[in-house]
Amino acid sequence: MAVPRLHPDTIEQVKQRADIADIVSEYVVLKKQGKDFVGLCPFHDDKSPSFSVSPSKQFYYCFSCGAGGNAIKFLMELGKRPFSEVVFDLAKRYQVPVQTLEPEQRQELQRQMSVREQLYEILAITSRFYEHALHQTHGHEALAYLKNDRQLSLETIQQFQLGYAPGGWETLYGYLVEQKHYPVALVLQAGLIVPRKTGDGYYDRFRNRLMIPIHDLQSRVIGFGGRTLTDEQPKYLNSPETALFDKGKTLFGLDKARSTIAKKDQAAVVEGYFDVIALHAAGITNTVAALGTALSIEQVRQLLRYTESKRIVFNFDADRAGVQAAERAIGEVATLAYQGEVQLRVLNIPDGKDADDFLKVHSPRDYQDLLDDAPLWIDWQIQQAIAGRDLKQADQFQQSSVEIVTLLGNLPNPNLRTHYIHHCAELLSQGNSRLQRQLEESLRLQVKGQRWHGRSQKWQTPGDRSLLAESETQLLRLYLHVPEHRSAIKSALDAQDLEFSLSHHRFLWRQIVELETSGSTDDLLSRLRDRTHDFPREMAQVYSLFELGEKTESDVLRGILVIRSAAAAMERVMCEKRRRHFLDLWKNTDCVTTPELGQYYQQKIHAEDQRIRELDRQRQVNFSDLVKVPIASELS
Ligand code: UTP
Ligand code: MN
Repeated sequence: MAVPRLHPDTIEQVKQRADIADIVSEYVVLKKQGKDFVGLCPFHDDKSPSFSVSPSKQFYYCFSCGAGGNAIKFLMELGKRPFSEVVFDLAKRYQVPVQTLEPEQRQELQRQMSVREQLYEILAITSRFYEHALHQTHGHEALAYLKNDRQLSLETIQQFQLGYAPGGWETLYGYLVEQKHYPVALVLQAGLIVPRKTGDGYYDRFRNRLMIPIHDLQSRVIGFGGRTLTDEQPKYLNSPETALFDKGKTLFGLDKARSTIAKKDQAAVVEGYFDVIALHAAGITNTVAALGTALSIEQVRQLLRYTESKRIVFNFDADRAGVQAAERAIGEVATLAYQGEVQLRVLNIPDGKDADDFLKVHSPRDYQDLLDDAPLWIDWQIQQAIAGRDLKQADQFQQSSVEIVTLLGNLPNPNLRTHYIHHCAELLSQGNSRLQRQLEESLRLQVKGQRWHGRSQKWQTPGDRSLLAESETQLLRLYLHVPEHRSAIKSALDAQDLEFSLSHHRFLWRQIVELETSGSTDDLLSRLRDRTHDFPREMAQVYSLFELGEKTESDVLRGILVIRSAAAAMERVMCEKRRRHFLDLWKNTDCVTTPELGQYYQQKIHAEDQRIRELDRQRQVNFSDLVKVPIASELS
């Protein structure tokens, strides 16, 4: 297909959104191994799994053939497709708005690119200027503040490249424009100076402030936060949004935090710059902060890329503003959280302290413990619905229960719902067991009335039975007619211990296995036909598989893709079976005397739910697009 040239922003966003594990698992059966996944390499004839996918690095690599790269490269190589076509498809899939470039725009862009490069340069020079100033006489007070009030070591000060913006109206202006000859327009675009209201000239945006540079993922300076050293308002003055600096998409400290986030498989979001600095200084380096704006879903998505278990802790201040910030942030990621795509936890440090304050009197270990024990967001919200209310007062009790009903109504997983209804009835009844039973029943009814029947219901697609029959048929037909695909089919089945569900398919598979073990695999079809006399009734049911029609021929051509989608459909049915099994067990478990067992079954159910959703996502891929994959590349 002819693809228009894509705007670099579109490409960048696609890179941010596309998840390597998500994409590869559509083509390769992946098995979890530690933090990574392994599978058979699709780029060479792999006998044992030498292909590995790292979600935290967003990278794949084959130890045998050396193929490697990011998600885009994977799709390019696999489908022998050009870059922009792959990016275009991914943009559609991840709902990234597509911006294209006309030829004139391209020239304009070239110009802009060089502007961006110059902006990076100006910001880097400015950062060094501020750093230098901190260690001069006029920076003395700022440095003393960092060392004494903030108790930061020189090492930490250097690591975060903290600096000082001198007082005076044109200090930086003089340095950049008069001394270094940078164009005023660029310094203005960098957000470092402000035009005078009178219309003549400019003055420094940051004056007599402690300067905290903000870096992007490549550790380039893209903006600053400046803290006052006096009572001047605002306490923190930040760079405005510029071509380089987008507050809603940047997390302070992420460049320094991301490797630990991956290693600890946990990310913590705190409120302030100094919380991050203090935490990193204390060795807790999986921490980042938003930039004085509400946390956005894009920021959360960035963190999710580095954590495999999607474990993110919000640690906002326990004051009113902090609780509100947490509520807002939860609202922002609610859809992800309810679907289990982020394991969101909320930590409020007691006494309204923030992380920085807390570390002044407690050990880093204590803080890490708080992080590890932070309640799940739903538990936290339930606490909030009850906290500060006197449940003995009818109206307050009523308010609490209304809030709880709304919360629980949003839970898509019925087991979790049941669990929380029980839990909330217990909390609300405050030890009155008769009341608890009544409440439980009443909550159950209300939650049921409240529940939205959105996403959650769609998991149980009604057409599954026919989908399954179709998938099994395709697999068997392919097996019979295309010997080259046999090993791929076998490994797809083996990888997940898949079995054919329909009895005549199971019968046919048994015949195939028997014939293969008893003799050569050549001429499988005709030897099967020979068995018609022994099993006339069963054979009649599978006889249509022995022929290739015009429609079924195309399945053969799309072989590898058909195998993948068919295996996914079969696995889904298996997951559902296991889910039902664990659900039955769970229902018969006494969660009071054996809570671990109850929890164990719940985890199992949840795991199956997640896998089912993943499989559904895979199936949603538009297979008409996949037909375009060159046939040669499939059969080679
Ligand atoms: P806080 O006021 O909680 O900051 O604001 P803090 O780090 O605890 O303050 P001190 O320095 O210890 O007294 C948290 C964050 O909100 C943003 C900043 O990003 C700050 O780190 N903020 C706050 C602003 O952008 N502007 C402000 O005026 C205040
Ligand atoms: Mn604070």
